[in-house]
Amino acid sequence: MAGFDDRDGFIWVDGKFVDWRDAKVPMISHGFHYAGLVFEGIRAYNGEAFKLHEHSERLINSARLIDMKVPYSAEELDKATIETMAKNNLTDAYIRPIAWRGAEQMGITGQDTTIHTAIAVWEWPSYFSPELLEKGISLKTSKWKRPAPDTAPVHSKAAGLYMICTMSKHEAENAGYTDALMLDYRGYVAEATGANLFLMKDGKIHTPTPDCFLNGLTRQTVIELAKKRGIEVIERHIQPAELKDFDEIFITGTAAEVTAIGKIDDIEYKVGDITKLLRDDYNNLVNGRELQQAIA
Ligand SMILES: Cc1ncc(COP(=O)(O)O)c(C=O)c1O
Repeated sequence: MAGFDDRDGFIWVDGKFVDWRDAKVPMISHGFHYAGLVFEGIRAYNGEAFKLHEHSERLINSARLIDMKVPYSAEELDKATIETMAKNNLTDAYIRPIAWRGAEQMGITGQDTTIHTAIAVWEWPSYFSPELLEKGISLKTSKWKRPAPDTAPVHSKAAGLYMICTMSKHEAENAGYTDALMLDYRGYVAEATGANLFLMKDGKIHTPTPDCFLNGLTRQTVIELAKKRGIEVIERHIQPAELKDFDEIFITGTAAEVTAIGKIDDIEYKVGDITKLLRDDYNNLVNGRELQQAIA
């Protein structure tokens, strides 16, 4: 299978379209060596990039949190994203904006590096197979913990924070699970490696307080959808010992969308009614279908 370096199409790099295969980063680049790199993940449905402006703003904010200034405004990034989709003839796509430190300096300091920006788009239907979506994915609790807010820039979608996510995911996959459940530095339930967590009990939704991990845009959307349905959403710290008490669990993320959890470690869950309802509401919303239509 061809890798991601070997595709047809164009990548927007620093304001210009570059042939996909020619879009390269010098080996000695600051961002590549010292994790001076932030990124976004956006999905477009029927030609419309969902919450595009919020994602563009988050890229700029993620960069600011690691002391980088993206040389474009959110409006300029929105426009470039729309142009990149059109240039690649894509209406349903995954969009990956990136900003990183260039090659002017090598060493810990990166003060004099140029900040580069790129936007790539490609087709990416669903993160998980239909069979997995049907029965729910499985999570294995990781030994790696989400760091404290004074240990890492926890609200930045920065590459450096994904090192422990990849290690956790590998460990889970090698044990036969789909993904990892990560606890935080205090031992509370935090999130999956690239998605937030929602847990249902007695018709109410509980979700970990995002005080040391990304408050995902999908998470915020699903909370609004649940409230529209009259379902109570409780944000709080959740202990791992409580996991056995929940009836259904799902994760949310731009890539994962709303995905049911079938198992965490040895505890099994059913794909429940609240999960199915909010999954349908989310699919209707992102596809531009009136929410009213979805509400029975
Ligand atoms: C670590 C992590 N948490 C949560 C999320 C969910 O965020 P969003 O819903 O904005 O995609 C993501 C994906 O961006 C992520 O990588």
